[in-house]
Amino acid sequence: MRLKGWLDSNSRVFMARDLRYIVKSFFPACGLGSFYDSGFLNNDKVQCLENIKRLYLEKIPLAYILGKEEFYGIEFKVNPSVLVPRKETELIVEEALDIIDRDNIKCVLDLCCGSANIAISIKKVASQCRDVFACDISAAALAVAGWNVCSHKADIKLVRSDLLSGFRSQQFSMIVTNPPYVESKAIDSSLRHEPRVALDGGVDGLDIIKKVLLQAPFYLKKDGYLVMEIGYNQKEAVNSLIERFAWYKIVKWIKDYDNNWRGIILKKTIDYRP
Ligand SMILES: C[S@@+](CC[C@H](N)C(=O)[O-])C[C@H]1O[C@@H](n2cnc3c(N)ncnc32)[C@H](O)[C@@H]1O
Repeated sequence: MRLKGWLDSNSRVFMARDLRYIVKSFFPACGLGSFYDSGFLNNDKVQCLENIKRLYLEKIPLAYILGKEEFYGIEFKVNPSVLVPRKETELIVEEALDIIDRDNIKCVLDLCCGSANIAISIKKVASQCRDVFACDISAAALAVAGWNVCSHKADIKLVRSDLLSGFRSQQFSMIVTNPPYVESKAIDSSLRHEPRVALDGGVDGLDIIKKVLLQAPFYLKKDGYLVMEIGYNQKEAVNSLIERFAWYKIVKWIKDYDNNWRGIILKKTIDYRP
């Protein structure tokens, strides 16, 4: 069977973007050039593609089926122990990198790191960032993070920690985080393959965000930044939480591609050390 024939007969099964990613993953040399038209699939390849199709129809995320996902132009290993990195999180990384560059920041923590996609993207782009840490509560997620850190030869210290409790007296110039922020009742079947611990933010989705806002000042240097992703509908709730804390100044709210408020940049303005 020719690759083109298989692709044509399955064009309605897959989203076009997913089909392109499958071709790119399995036939890296072919692109959409001559192999696409003339390439012949042996039985093993057909079987493999049919297996992918079966899992895809079961609504298993393509990233888990292929075991990898692209984030910020970098390939990351993923499995069901970690969230599949999302496009909107790239915007959070972009904002963090702007500040890192402008303020010559050297010490950053990726809090709730999952696959370590944020930490590794920062380390790769911002070479002046000497000390990059990444932490997660899940040992299984940290195993994936470890694999990515090694395969990208990134000098990143991985720490297993319940939020910031594992760091004791350490202080960072920036904490970047994409915490779990989905309301428990909103975790529907479309998210069922991803780890609950990566999504569940409690009844109002704000359980972990509140804890991060409370803990971060103890672990940030004076004038340090907290860059945090939030749910698309959480700006007002997060804003009223921040009003309760005197130690933050809001630097900026971040919008996503759908024009939703998706993140916040805070600066710690009070010099406080426990
Ligand atoms: C939304 S995922 C983000 C993963 C990754 N940073 C990304 O952007 O794709 C949240 C991560 O927080 C971790 N997590 C949940 N509760 C935590 C806690 N109390 N302390 C540290 N990490 C936690 C989960 O294991 C999960 O990996």
